[in-house]
Amino acid sequence: MSVSERSRTELIARVKEIVARGGDADEKLKAICSLLRREVPHYDWVGFYVADADEKELTLGPFAGEPTEHVRIPFGRGICGRAATERKTVVVDDVSCEACYLACSPLVRSEVVLPVFKGNRPVAELDIDSHTPEAFTNDDLAFLEEVVRVVRDLF
Ligand code: SME
Repeated sequence: MSVSERSRTELIARVKEIVARGGDADEKLKAICSLLRREVPHYDWVGFYVADADEKELTLGPFAGEPTEHVRIPFGRGICGRAATERKTVVVDDVSCEACYLACSPLVRSEVVLPVFKGNRPVAELDIDSHTPEAFTNDDLAFLEEVVRVVRDLF
């Protein structure tokens, strides 16, 4: 399970097309979430949280998947809040072993959260949940880091 080199290149090209087209930033982000969720079978929920570094809070932005009750997450809470505090990508292979995990769906088994930076400032996070345990490989991480680089300008 991972995003193959070929589909990774194709998907990045499609993400770049979405970023370059006209329209609202939130519509583009939503289209990118839907694309990733549709095209990568082990991405079951894909969404962005917008970071307010002054208030130290994350607010749910565009996403694809089931609605979540976690619309606002303070830095330091949950896996998303942990990624914000630690200012680095967090991969959780088994969410049931993670004390700080905020559950969105009982089906979720693993999760990855990548902070999006503009310079030194955290502006957002890309959050992906999977119903598969240990779903996120180094290939996924390399792919998602590229996605984050491409979407940074939309925040
Ligand atoms: N599981 C996250 C909350 C957000 S949902 O996955 C959409 C967390 O622990 O921060």
